[in-house]
Amino acid sequence: MEKVQLGNTGVEFSRLVYGVWRLADDADTSVANVRAKIDTCLEQGITTFDHADIYGDYRCEALFGQALAADPTLRQQMQLVSKCDIALVSDTFPGRRVKYYDTSAAYIRNSVDTSLANLHSEQLDLLLIHRPDPFMDAAETGAALDALVDSGKVRALGVSNFMHWDWRLLQQHMKHRLVVNQIEMNLLQREAFTDGTLASMQLDGLAAMAWSPLAGGALFGDSPAAQRLRPLLRRLAEQNNSSPDLVALAWLMSHPAGIMPVVGTNNIERVRALSGACDIRIDRETWFELWSAASGQEVP
Ligand SMILES: NC(=O)c1ccc[n+]([C@@H]2O[C@H](COP(=O)([O-])OP(=O)(O)OC[C@H]3O[C@@H](n4cnc5c(N)ncnc54)[C@H](OP(=O)(O)O)[C@@H]3O)[C@@H](O)[C@H]2O)c1
Repeated sequence: MEKVQLGNTGVEFSRLVYGVWRLADDADTSVANVRAKIDTCLEQGITTFDHADIYGDYRCEALFGQALAADPTLRQQMQLVSKCDIALVSDTFPGRRVKYYDTSAAYIRNSVDTSLANLHSEQLDLLLIHRPDPFMDAAETGAALDALVDSGKVRALGVSNFMHWDWRLLQQHMKHRLVVNQIEMNLLQREAFTDGTLASMQLDGLAAMAWSPLAGGALFGDSPAAQRLRPLLRRLAEQNNSSPDLVALAWLMSHPAGIMPVVGTNNIERVRALSGACDIRIDRETWFELWSAASGQEVP
């Protein structure tokens, strides 16, 4: 599995990342099953795991953490990403009246401490601000993020779902570099390729992590775009002795920006096959063939 360096932070991610948003949705949330998914990833060189404080209504990090607690040698074999700033209305926080974003220093510090405790870890490899906060005090947030790196609790910093004006404002108030923007990118969601987001990320040295790279499963649904894509994905899968989901991942990975898909399947057989996506080459014309099938028209 190819490795990706995050700026000059010394942090090295696997090109494919496993996301745990849906971990608590699995019918089997036993430690043994969580461990089986972790092992199946590690066997393929998928060493980076994407968390957020809120996943599974604040339960996923602790579920995953049980596996780390049971075998402390696991932690050093992987990189852990977490995120914060979304405050959910939840039984975990009974006083909350509304969903909101919180990028205050106290909130970020507390969220990271909770993530570290839940994950039975001393350090996060990457912390992301989950969504742009329209109420952000950039100086306060930037200083809080810098302090987390200086204290050793976090190795690298980034953002998620940010537009360039959001991350440039935050970066202006920081000493450490933001090195990642994690955004939605897949065959059904292609805006970042043309709205300046992916271009600005390359200009500013932010690596691209793509969440919901299979459109959260909608790629295999009945929308007109999914139906147009289906025969082409099947044909390319056959040509590559592979499967349509891996072709869709390869479509993202073949882009010159070096996109890192964050996959979310709970199906262990699908997890076992993931690294096959790295062997599929999508050439320029095929890339546009898939783009055109998705959009329903040729490019202008
Ligand atoms: N930063 C953010 O704002 C943000 C937002 C959303 C997600 N994320 C991250 O991105 C990760 C991945 O998101 P995601 O789970 O939406 O990713 P995804 O890989 O696009 O979608 C996974 C879903 O697709 C289904 N699926 C996969 N392959 C399939 C196939 N061949 N046929 C039918 N269904 C299939 C899976 O079902 P099975 O489980 O049955 O395979 C699962 O429900 C999350 O875990 C999280 O870490 C980040």
